Amino acid sequence: MKILVTGGAGFIGSHIVDTLLAAGHTPAVLDDLSSGTADNLPPGVPLHVADIADPDAVERVFAAERPEAVCHQAAQMSVSRSVREPAFDARVNVLGLVHVLDAAVRHGAGRFVFASSGGVLYGDVTTPAPESMPAAPVSPYGITKWVGERYLEFYAREHGLTAVALRYSNVYGPRQNPHGEAGVVAIFCRKLLAGQPARINGDGRYVRDYVYGPDVARANLLALTAESLQAPGQVSRGTLTSLNIGTGIGTDVNDLERMVRGALETDLVARGRASPLPPPEHGPARPGDLRSNLVDPARAADVLGWRPTVALADGLARTATWFALA
Ligand SMILES: NC(=O)c1ccc[n+]([C@@H]2O[C@H](COP(=O)([O-])OP(=O)(O)OC[C@H]3O[C@@H](n4cnc5c(N)ncnc54)[C@H](O)[C@@H]3O)[C@@H](O)[C@H]2O)c1
Repeated sequence: MKILVTGGAGFIGSHIVDTLLAAGHTPAVLDDLSSGTADNLPPGVPLHVADIADPDAVERVFAAERPEAVCHQAAQMSVSRSVREPAFDARVNVLGLVHVLDAAVRHGAGRFVFASSGGVLYGDVTTPAPESMPAAPVSPYGITKWVGERYLEFYAREHGLTAVALRYSNVYGPRQNPHGEAGVVAIFCRKLLAGQPARINGDGRYVRDYVYGPDVARANLLALTAESLQAPGQVSRGTLTSLNIGTGIGTDVNDLERMVRGALETDLVARGRASPLPPPEHGPARPGDLRSNLVDPARAADVLGWRPTVALADGLARTATWFALA
């Protein structure tokens, strides 16, 4: 199947491209390279450098590729930028989404998978949140993910799309950008490999649900290809199905830092570069950081047969090796 992956040159999008190729599909990528890079893509995958907020550019890409399905990962994904520049956030995450949905309808792409976020929809929760939990977004970024799902619902009903919103928890893995504010595993890897201590905000007792990027990519493959089940609330034409993609397992930042440092030390020793890495330093708490957030992935197992397969320790070991070699 020909599948257009917006944001396909980014962290999660490029793992989706790899997964689609391995499953025999034909991905093409639309990306403005604002945070992604062409280096993330395997040779031969068409890359259209375009801004989703520009409807003419989006139209040109759809006319050239004529995809049968769309996997929409492109987004402005900085929570703090969304607070500073809500209009820019809405331009990319709302208007950009609507342009991509319009083009999908015009060109007959029947299935649309959207990168949503459990982290920003459910707020502070100490037990894994099910999809039925009322959304309580507190940042413009969270609001745009929620509004995005509502647009998807409208386009599905109005135009007969099969729409799936995947609500990721905290995704980590090779290729994650270590220069942003999110992506704590990537940020810790970069700092520690530079011989500097990882910086932990406040007391570090902030619990998150970490899911491995290639596992998330497999969820996208299943959402793009699952047979319509035509049962209420399942993947079917004319409806939106929202599914959590996470592990339901919480890890706090202090434990995460210890695991990342241990994984990097093991990797360095294996390379004959024995070097104990510095212990973390603690900075001030970040205002507004949730104490705990985790998602219940049971519905994704029921609907798509998706379960996370890579345990945190294994995923961190693979990620550490990738950053050590990068
Ligand atoms: N990483 C996470 O933990 C996480 C959690 C929940 C949801 N998400 C969502 O998953 C998706 C992918 O995130 P990621 O972690 O791979 O981030 P990323 O920054 O690596 O990927 C985003 C991609 O979109 C591209 N992009 C940004 N603005 C664009 C625009 N206007 N036009 C075209 N392309 C544009 C970027 O260049 C980049 O390649 C995003 O929608 C994000 O909101 C990520």
